Amino acid sequence: MAVEEYAQIKRETEYLMAVDKNTVLAALAAVQSPDGATLPATGKLSDVIVTDGKVFFSITVDAAVVPSWEPVRKAAEAAVRALPGVTSVMVALTGERAGGARPQPAQPGRPAPATPGGRPQAGQQPAVPGVEAIIAVASGKGGVGKSTTAVNLALGLRDLGLKVGVLDADIYGPSVPKLLAIRGKPQTIGGTRLRPMDGYGLKVMSIGFLIEEETPMIWRGPMVMSALTQMLREVEWGALDILVVDMPPGTGDAQLTMAQQVPLKGAVIVSTPQDLALVDARRGIGMFRRVNVPVLGIVENMSYFLCPQCGSRSDIFSHGGAQHEAERQGVPFLGEVPLHMDIREKSDAGLPVVATDPDGPHAKIYREIAGRVRVGLAGASKPAPKIVIEA
Ligand SMILES: Nc1ncnc2c1ncn2[C@@H]1O[C@H](COP(=O)(O)OP(=O)(O)OP(=O)(O)O)[C@@H](O)[C@H]1O
Ligand SMILES: [Mg+2]
Repeated sequence: MAVEEYAQIKRETEYLMAVDKNTVLAALAAVQSPDGATLPATGKLSDVIVTDGKVFFSITVDAAVVPSWEPVRKAAEAAVRALPGVTSVMVALTGERAGGARPQPAQPGRPAPATPGGRPQAGQQPAVPGVEAIIAVASGKGGVGKSTTAVNLALGLRDLGLKVGVLDADIYGPSVPKLLAIRGKPQTIGGTRLRPMDGYGLKVMSIGFLIEEETPMIWRGPMVMSALTQMLREVEWGALDILVVDMPPGTGDAQLTMAQQVPLKGAVIVSTPQDLALVDARRGIGMFRRVNVPVLGIVENMSYFLCPQCGSRSDIFSHGGAQHEAERQGVPFLGEVPLHMDIREKSDAGLPVVATDPDGPHAKIYREIAGRVRVGLAGASKPAPKIVIEA
């Protein structure tokens, strides 16, 4: 068959197979809600997002009736999955308390206990079966290298012989699929649970597998929580020693809600050395303290510049700021990662340095940081650990 002929047939078939929002809504009209109305007529559907055969939407109901809506969620998922051209479906069911109170994730297990101030504590969330410890990698500020650190830290922990997973919780800008060069989509197991993807021996889940990276996402509060809850709890992580969560940047309400909905054993704060970044790092530390998550320490990223040609070092961003901040805050300093072209190029090409240049100087730094994180985790339930950093 001529190449042009093949391309033409492919275009035509793609056109025939393409699924759009209206097709999805038409399929959902066959799904009945508990009160007899068709699902789209209930007004409880979020916007339906369709990209390249991947469909995502949420159903928001009163928290008290969530259990009676679970069969509706399943039926909606099945109805959409049966449509030609649909490659994956994610339907989140969210319980909202009357009066517009903070959304609660719809999931089995006991409800999150509240503090006297009414704020649930992250450490008291139900554990994820099989997952020994969950840690967040966070920063107050965007673009400081949080995802790069999360991925290389996870690989460093893997190199210590641990079974490690990565959950990309940055639903606004998921970058983990690209950083680990993972393509394709997760398979479902038994129609409901997702099998994580594999990247360099890490088990990985990201909203980026379900939604195109370039698609601008408008997330409403309840959708954020259901997406995160599903990616955390409806995934077959298997036995993991550590699950590293790449948090979205910032310390706003969305990040705080995330921090308290995930049963975190600790948090790693990434900062660059500049004063402004450190102010944000301080906010990050404050946020985790508010929800009683131990801060395992600060990593100073882009700490100093190593000239790739001559190897000379310059402290362009007043190196050392994060170490001082760690001392001021009474949290461990986990190490410093230089600003280096190799780290940027390899990260952006999906070839993280720890995996692809394991004997290089940067991999060594990340492994040392991983070692300190492990020590910190072991002592997280004890009084604040004092970590001595060797020169
Ligand atoms: N130590 C480093 N040396 C050189 N480049 C780096 C370093 N750390 C990160 N980068 C580069 O900086 C950019 C931002 O990094 P990254 O995406 O990890 O930041 P982030 O904090 O996760 O950003 P966002 O807030 O957008 O999620 C990327 O291009 C990355 O390759
Ligand atoms: Mg990021």
